[in-house]
Amino acid sequence: MTGTSSGTVGFCGLGMMGAPLAGNLLRKGVPLIVHNRTPEKAGKLLEAGARWAETPRAVAEGASSGLVFTVLSDARALREVLWGRHGIARGLSPSGLVVDMSTIAPDQSRTMAGRLATRGLHFVDAPLGGSVDAAEAGTVLFYVGGDPSDVERVRPYLEKMGRGVEFMGPVGSGTAMKLVNNLLTIGHVALLSEALALSEGLGLPRGRVLSVLSAGGAASRMLESKRDSLERREYPARFLLRLARKDVDLVVRTGRRSRRETPFAREIRRLLREAGAQGHDLEDFSAMAEAALRRLPARPPEGSTGTGDLPAISP
Ligand SMILES: NC(=O)c1ccc[n+]([C@@H]2O[C@H](COP(=O)([O-])OP(=O)(O)OC[C@H]3O[C@@H](n4cnc5c(N)ncnc54)[C@H](OP(=O)(O)O)[C@@H]3O)[C@@H](O)[C@H]2O)c1
Repeated sequence: MTGTSSGTVGFCGLGMMGAPLAGNLLRKGVPLIVHNRTPEKAGKLLEAGARWAETPRAVAEGASSGLVFTVLSDARALREVLWGRHGIARGLSPSGLVVDMSTIAPDQSRTMAGRLATRGLHFVDAPLGGSVDAAEAGTVLFYVGGDPSDVERVRPYLEKMGRGVEFMGPVGSGTAMKLVNNLLTIGHVALLSEALALSEGLGLPRGRVLSVLSAGGAASRMLESKRDSLERREYPARFLLRLARKDVDLVVRTGRRSRRETPFAREIRRLLREAGAQGHDLEDFSAMAEAALRRLPARPPEGSTGTGDLPAISP
């Protein structure tokens, strides 16, 4: 089917990203039918006029536009919501379209698309660039993979939820782009974590280090967005550390499948695993800075100049 769809749109997954994105659609006049495993998270949307459905299947049955959006933790959750006994696939009519905004691997997107196609259903992967603030402000970017006619069908809705649609190619290209992006964004915070641990070892005050970094060549959007958390050493969840570890896992696995080694990603994953084991899984992923601190002595050893075994400079 080509062209735009009208009517009620389905939405499953009202977590930190899903709820504000669904809110953007509602605010722009799109009638919504929604479901979330934990119903309480739908409260604000229902007050704003969304209809509740008891199951993902009921969402699909109530979505007269034939469109259902999903924003779920991972591929396991998506499989359950699509293919479970009360899953979306059982409720969509032929030519229905699932737009998945979760971060999963490209081969997982292709598998979902292939299975749906056997029922005459369509699939677009449209993972999200940007975090909770961007979802709330309507400024996320979508990395999109799919059949061009399917993408055109969903584009008006993506444009209502975010600031832009980056079409990357066939199904799986959106999630591929997302993994490339997240290797850099998560990797950036990993390196920043190590830089802060090093600066602490060198006796530099954290706040001063962050402000000097922000003013110089190491300045970046990631540094700005995590600066406050890193300075206060408090990490209220914007993007859960365990989801960041899932993404870096996907980078490593996807890299291997495409015969590309990703040694930096493996090291980042190691730091995220340490942070998880230290109890930071449900905090923001920038809490990996705490794990980095535990890897290094907090202060230079007694009597040390902090220069390690560098040769002495002769007068
Ligand atoms: N947060 C970010 O900054 C950010 C940015 C870009 C992309 N993403 C990606 O977007 C996706 C959602 O992230 P989020 O931050 O919104 O995470 P979240 O707040 O943890 O939400 C996860 C959603 O998945 C649902 N879910 C998990 N397991 C399920 C299952 N087995 N069956 C049914 N529903 C299940 C959760 O339901 P409950 O509410 O019942 O737990 C919730 O609706 C993830 O793939 C993440 O990697 C996140």
